[in-house]
Amino acid sequence: MEEEDTINLNPCELGTKSYWDSAYETEIKNYLDNGDIGEIWFDESSQTRIIKWLNKQDTSKDASIIDLGTGNGAMLFELSEAEYTNLTGVDYSEKSIELAQKIAIDQDQPHITFKVCDLLADVTELGRFDVCHDKGTFDAIGLMNDAFDKKEIYTKNVFDLLNDKGLFIITSCNFTELELTKSFSNYFDKFEVIPSQTFQFGGKVGKTTTSICFKKKETLSK
Ligand SMILES: C[S@@+](CC[C@H](N)C(=O)[O-])C[C@H]1O[C@@H](n2cnc3c(N)ncnc32)[C@H](O)[C@@H]1O
Repeated sequence: MEEEDTINLNPCELGTKSYWDSAYETEIKNYLDNGDIGEIWFDESSQTRIIKWLNKQDTSKDASIIDLGTGNGAMLFELSEAEYTNLTGVDYSEKSIELAQKIAIDQDQPHITFKVCDLLADVTELGRFDVCHDKGTFDAIGLMNDAFDKKEIYTKNVFDLLNDKGLFIITSCNFTELELTKSFSNYFDKFEVIPSQTFQFGGKVGKTTTSICFKKKETLSK
């Protein structure tokens, strides 16, 4: 496959399964000790923003929503609070799913489905969804060895997981709007940039994260 000129990051431990297994093992211990559900990547406000935006699109409360690389499942618990009812979370770390399932039982949210799944393997058995949500997972994949090929496999798998008129919503701290749009351009068109917090320094406006909603391309170029 020919290398394109999107940013290539140096591989690091955040791109390995062993890193996440050990992180969630620690988080399970902390949760059992003091009830702390653990890290919410990019802060709770990043979840609220996405949910507000979904509400504005008149997304049906029973739309099927999958959280890709769900971690502790916090996004799905927020969605459930916002009365979304058809929720699935997947992660390749068994420990992440163990943590999310424990929290779901304690928060009396047994209707949320959590499954162990590697998003770089065969995902067909998961079915198809109206909304695919990613917060920080594409970022982690971008830090793996052979990230260029893995990002491509991930993108094709998300395409297969999404219903034809569905929404793919991604929040990233490692890639800019331009880089995300380019990375997904074989399979998705940019639909809308979801406003995120900006900061100003020396007269320049910057962002710490980028959230974008993509829609499937109707025809794929060969
Ligand atoms: C930065 S964390 C984000 C967790 C969660 N989405 C959040 O916002 O709090 C990245 C997550 O992606 C998961 N992940 C990384 N590569 C994956 C893969 N190939 N398949 C499934 N999950 C993966 C990790 O286990 C981890 O839970």
